[in-house]
Amino acid sequence: MPENTTLQRVAIVTGAARGIGAATAVRLARDGFAVAVFDLDEAAGARTVETIEKEGGRALAVGCDVSDADQVEAGVARAAAELGAPAALVNNAGILRDNLIFKMTPQEFDAVIGVHLRGAFLMAKACQTYMVDARWGRIVNMSSAAALGNRGQSNYSSAKAGLQALTKTLAIELGPFGVTSNCVAPGFIATEMTEATAERMGITFEEFTDRYARSIPVRRGGRPEDIAQAVSFFAREEAGFVSGQVLYVAGGPKG
Ligand code: NAI
Repeated sequence: MPENTTLQRVAIVTGAARGIGAATAVRLARDGFAVAVFDLDEAAGARTVETIEKEGGRALAVGCDVSDADQVEAGVARAAAELGAPAALVNNAGILRDNLIFKMTPQEFDAVIGVHLRGAFLMAKACQTYMVDARWGRIVNMSSAAALGNRGQSNYSSAKAGLQALTKTLAIELGPFGVTSNCVAPGFIATEMTEATAERMGITFEEFTDRYARSIPVRRGGRPEDIAQAVSFFAREEAGFVSGQVLYVAGGPKG
């Protein structure tokens, strides 16, 4: 990565105010990227920006609902103007609206598809223009082990499986322009998202984590940094011949 900041590559990470997104933003900054921290509101991203700046990196918080086409257009244009043309994109923003199929409302289905799948599509569409112009780009989509099917998550599993198909299609369409597209599919990772799931189930997070850990071959739950390092691999220069892949990072085999 060039030292000169005018030549520094820019990465956009969505949902980067906390959890996996925050860890990924910090990791990509350490790798040499300037990082645009996208999240629902600008204030939410401030802590991640502060962490990156404290370590000597460049970062910008951008308030953006990734499911909204106008906000995505404006957010990506702002990141390009204030930090530089996006060269890497990590589609990580996500929500849960779990329910069994007989109780799930169409609104719960649409909300989840809207953030994960439509959001990734909108962000990729807005960013690829810059990547194609530069003949270099890295897109990494955050799927999940739930893409293989998961009780109570017909919305989420469908979105996460859809992201794998989107990843492969982008790899085919954008490959000729030097842009790779890959997927990381995490297993259980300790974040506020999984904390909220434990709360909904009426058990402590420790109990919830222990239950998972017993079924994971490496016998521990994942950490946001476990995922950040996988994203970092796909985003680097040397990974240019790796495209259209899905990497399960789950402490054991999946898929
Ligand atoms: P989290 O809930 O801790 O963080 C998600 C972030 O996305 C939040 O900062 C939230 O404000 C932001 N966000 C939500 N909707 C948004 C929108 N419309 N526009 C912009 N930002 C939005 O979640 P966590 O655990 O860090 O998950 C990150 C990603 O990893 C998600 O896509 C999730 O589905 C995926 N994942 C997480 C796993 C886990 O065990 N934690 C396992 C597999 C996948």
